[in-house]
Amino acid sequence: MCGIVGYIGHKPALPILIEGLKKLEYRGYDSAGVAVIQSGTARVEKSQGRLANLEGKVNGDFSDGVIGIGHTRWATHGRPSDTNSHPHSDCTGKFVVIHNGIIENYVQLKEVLQQHGHVFKSQTDTEVIPHLVESYYKGDLVDAVRHVAKMLRGAYALAVMCQDEPDKIVAVKEASPLVIGLGEGENFLASDIPAILKHTRRVIALEEGQMAVLTRDSVTLTTVDGEPLTPKIIDVNWDPGQAERGGYAHFMLKEIHEQPQAIRDTLIGRISDDNTQVILPEMGLPAEKARTLRKLAIVACGTASHAGFVGRYLIEKLAGIPVEWDIASEYRYRDPMVDSDTLFVAISQSGETADTLAAMREAKRKGAKVLAITNVVGSSIAREADWVLYTWAGPEIAVASTKAYTTQLITVTLLALWLGQQNGRLAATDAKEIITSLRDLYTQAAYVLEHMEEPIKEVAAQIARKEDVFFIGRNLDYAVALEGQLKLKEISYIHAEAYAAGELKHGTLALITRGVPVIALNTQPELAEKTISNIQEVRARDAYVIGIAVEGDDHTKHHCDEVFYLPRCHKLLAPVLAVLPLQMLAYYAATARGADVDKPRNLAKSVTVE
Ligand code: AGP
Repeated sequence: MCGIVGYIGHKPALPILIEGLKKLEYRGYDSAGVAVIQSGTARVEKSQGRLANLEGKVNGDFSDGVIGIGHTRWATHGRPSDTNSHPHSDCTGKFVVIHNGIIENYVQLKEVLQQHGHVFKSQTDTEVIPHLVESYYKGDLVDAVRHVAKMLRGAYALAVMCQDEPDKIVAVKEASPLVIGLGEGENFLASDIPAILKHTRRVIALEEGQMAVLTRDSVTLTTVDGEPLTPKIIDVNWDPGQAERGGYAHFMLKEIHEQPQAIRDTLIGRISDDNTQVILPEMGLPAEKARTLRKLAIVACGTASHAGFVGRYLIEKLAGIPVEWDIASEYRYRDPMVDSDTLFVAISQSGETADTLAAMREAKRKGAKVLAITNVVGSSIAREADWVLYTWAGPEIAVASTKAYTTQLITVTLLALWLGQQNGRLAATDAKEIITSLRDLYTQAAYVLEHMEEPIKEVAAQIARKEDVFFIGRNLDYAVALEGQLKLKEISYIHAEAYAAGELKHGTLALITRGVPVIALNTQPELAEKTISNIQEVRARDAYVIGIAVEGDDHTKHHCDEVFYLPRCHKLLAPVLAVLPLQMLAYYAATARGADVDKPRNLAKSVTVE
């Protein structure tokens, strides 16, 4: 997830771009860059690291240009570096492009461009775009961009300038956010509203497949095919604080609602169009290694460890490989049995968690190869691993992890499918069924968030008055219960525990008395009846039971005080949807208790000490 901004008008563009990028740094801060057209030349300056580095590099060469674009990067393809920073240019330097998203077919496009003599400077997917525009430019930038946009697959919010046409910026939107701001004698574009709110409250939110041509006096909206469109202009009434959080009260709520996009982004380019194959070329793990693997060790902390817990079930089921699972801070003190046939999987949103890093180093010392699953390109864990699979959730600001967790679930699912396909233990029919369901998850997640938020808020108001809450489930539902209890307690400070539903009767049932809330997850068909009998155990002690079930389940509701139904998906993917109501429950219970949701007491976003 990156941030893009653009300006065309009568004022110097540079300060407007820099100020807009400051508002967008939460979307990515690996590097930043600007391009301004001044005296007929497209001047580009970019720098690895925070925006301040860029500010120190731009000079008087940029002071007069009244048209420009800017970018702040969250690396997905190509490590953070000056060269990989945006804007990117073509061979002539005439065309400059900034991009937020992922170009799924960039490898093929790059090969053809190189065969035609184009010289690339970066390792990014984005750089194919200016070279394509250069190839198809015949004196009309809008036509060239229109042609190129139809060649791209994936997610993109683009802004393109040409130094020979300094009176326009061409923008295109497909699966990545892009808004246009309307001014007097000036117009703006940005990844989202905060970047331009200081200059205008009149905004157009581009929709899929739309193109906008910005001049200082006009914005022309069409489809990528050139069909004219009537813009829907929104008057935005946010205050600055709300603007920084995209209109949400907290970053956590914003990130909860970013999950459909994050899920979609994390899948882009990794499943075949016909839903038969998982494709993980960027991971680099040799297929031969996958075929000879005798054991995996999944090691992580906190929420990442809960995603790993789901991964253990999935990998054993889909790939038939034994998986050990450990909390990172415990792992190296049990003298783990590790050898060269062990694949150590380190999961970490930040890629900097000291416990996970230490466990990983111990496994490497014992001869294991390491696969990192992380959200931060170039992080310590990514750098020290042998192979990396990135989640593409974009920066996660709130201490309580949400979109990182669901994209970690997506990634461990992709890994399990890929391993099963490499070692032949996953039947093609099963693979296709699961991959087809994977593809629908982001729309189903959006549905859950849209339809459950209000009823969950009401239940949360009751939970907020409690001091002890229990989460129960079996198998994958137990794995999600672990994440639900952590979310609730770390931001609302309510004591919460997760229990394997079948384990309650071995002690914890003693704590279940009248009115104690029990969140019962029941999404796994083959275990439904057993879970219902565990629900009956707590109901018999007058617990207040909230059920999480799947549409079509007509039994669970008879044993619960409240029940929330998830859309039908493949049962192995249910954790991705089941966690959503639990995240919202935690959020609204915490806000009802007046807790500091984004910065809970005693906690840090990345725990870099052991
Ligand atoms: C989760 O909400 C917490 N913030 C915490 O448990 C976190 O998941 C844990 O510290 C691991 O962080 P990492 O994913 O960056 O390694």
